[in-house]
Amino acid sequence: MCGIVGYIGPKQAYPFLITGLKRLEYRGYDSAGIAIINGKINVYKTKGKVSDLESFVKDKNIEGTVGIAHTRWATHGEPSDINAHPHLSHSENLAMIHNGIIENYHLLKNKLEDIGIKFTSETDSEVLVQFIEYLQIHENIDLVKAVQLALSQVIGAYAIVILSKNDPNLLIAARKSSPLVIGIGRGEYFLASDASPIVEHTRQVVYLNDEEIAVIRMNEELQITTISDQKKIPFIEKLELDLSALEKGGFDHFMLKEIFEQPKSIRDSIRGRVNVGLDTISMAGIIDFEQRFLNANRIIFTAAGTSWHAALVGEYLFEELARIPVEVEYASEFRYRNPIITNRDVVIAISQSGETADTLAAMQLAKQKGALIYSICNVVGSTISRVADAGSYTHAGPEIGVASTKAFTSQVTVLVLMALLLAKKKGTITDLRFRQLLAELDRIPAKIEEALGLSEYIRDLSRVYTYARNFLYLGRGINFPVALEGALKLKEISYIHAEGYPAAEMKHGPIALIDKKMPVVVVAPNSETYEKVVSNIQEIKARKGKVIAIVSKGDITVSSLADYVIEIPQTEELLSPMLSVIPLQLLSYFIAVMRECEIDQPRNLAKSVTVE
Ligand code: G6P
Repeated sequence: MCGIVGYIGPKQAYPFLITGLKRLEYRGYDSAGIAIINGKINVYKTKGKVSDLESFVKDKNIEGTVGIAHTRWATHGEPSDINAHPHLSHSENLAMIHNGIIENYHLLKNKLEDIGIKFTSETDSEVLVQFIEYLQIHENIDLVKAVQLALSQVIGAYAIVILSKNDPNLLIAARKSSPLVIGIGRGEYFLASDASPIVEHTRQVVYLNDEEIAVIRMNEELQITTISDQKKIPFIEKLELDLSALEKGGFDHFMLKEIFEQPKSIRDSIRGRVNVGLDTISMAGIIDFEQRFLNANRIIFTAAGTSWHAALVGEYLFEELARIPVEVEYASEFRYRNPIITNRDVVIAISQSGETADTLAAMQLAKQKGALIYSICNVVGSTISRVADAGSYTHAGPEIGVASTKAFTSQVTVLVLMALLLAKKKGTITDLRFRQLLAELDRIPAKIEEALGLSEYIRDLSRVYTYARNFLYLGRGINFPVALEGALKLKEISYIHAEGYPAAEMKHGPIALIDKKMPVVVVAPNSETYEKVVSNIQEIKARKGKVIAIVSKGDITVSSLADYVIEIPQTEELLSPMLSVIPLQLLSYFIAVMRECEIDQPRNLAKSVTVE
């Protein structure tokens, strides 16, 4: 992963670089570094977070108007000062930052070492900057040509920015499979992994495409070429991003803010897609490819992490409402399985960031095999949304906490809308049922507000389980993915081992773990399988397990059995995941707070996984 930023212009580079890194810290936070030209290239880097870099450079010379900076999520080489970026070339004429992986770095490194080039770090990234300089000298070519030549021999993924001591009014940037945005100001340019560091400086941006190289000079027009030296005309787009959405807005953590934002983010996901009479849905992406959807043999969802859980919810929705067979695939498995795909398949990639490497690769594979590719992304302009044939944005607004919350409920909202729209087109739903579900969807934001009112109660409850070692989460039907999501949230931010299971499967293994110390969270709102879940709870109680039950308001049976009860408003079973997940998000948040964990930047994780 990693976050990268660059600046070239008349102002001091440091303020943009350091605030930019803070905005991108969700992408990785094990070390950070900066390089600014001032006669020579001054490089400062340190293990730790961006705030550690900030303290480290306090007494250093950070003057200069051209610079680059990096926040790292380690792949090759442990988090350390030396492995932090930027990396310098052998002569120290070039400095480079890199997000991605150079897969054939070993081969290149051996070749360079054989001719006496010394490496200071264990990273794959250093190999690339050394290789570029080697080609520049050995082939006697200019820097742009050397970058083109080097990248044509590199296997892997990269977003890079290079600065050169010998040509101080120059930044060279390039990308393949890792994102890079260039902001165009007045006589200045801003570069970043996403638009969040740029938005307060300019709204004019260019998203670099794969294998494109940008040659950037202060007060000159942006030049874009490709690795094979074809000239491209930069496509300038206008950024629509609300700056206040990038702040914590009075909450202690982004995660809590994002949990509480869900009534709004769901309304934003619905807005413009449903008419006032609540009886029609319009989604441009689906209309454009209506016949492909209606004639599809099957729909394959592909995703990772929380987005994969949303896809599992989508499976229930699409099969139940639109009667289209659905498969849900981990992108990382799908892409390496030689899957059977035809042009009668529709592949829907779900991704908050729109940059997850495995999801991107899975959809590219399906595209080659002729499937229609549809994306459900949150980040506007992201790679996955641009590679897809069509798609729908979730419009949840920036999600900064590494543990995904509002992105999940917005993904489910979009899936509900898509399933209803397709059901109507296919005639697999009555008008009455269509209107009932749409009207209930419209009430969900208010019901989430009500569920959020339980936050104090859940905080108190979380004290009881702050030091639990293990947790089991159970759910059935459309609430089974919610059990998986609850367990994932707890693991991610509180580092407590948790497993999600379909409730009935408990007796095939996990039941062996149940004793009086084992908290079991049972997601048991009103549903067709409610009675079955009651039996599962009996099985837990018979073994002295502690049950925390998520039930629909007015529930009597489960409430009389459970040790703790969290009541959520009544709703349609098909929409219940949007409500039942709320207490689970809050429970994991408060347990992690009590355990004094890093909420927004949990250890070893990153929000956007742009490596395999
Ligand atoms: C990372 C994040 C998760 C996220 C997953 C998929 O692991 O930490 O929160 O669910 O990637 O990300 P995507 O952006 O594709 O939804």
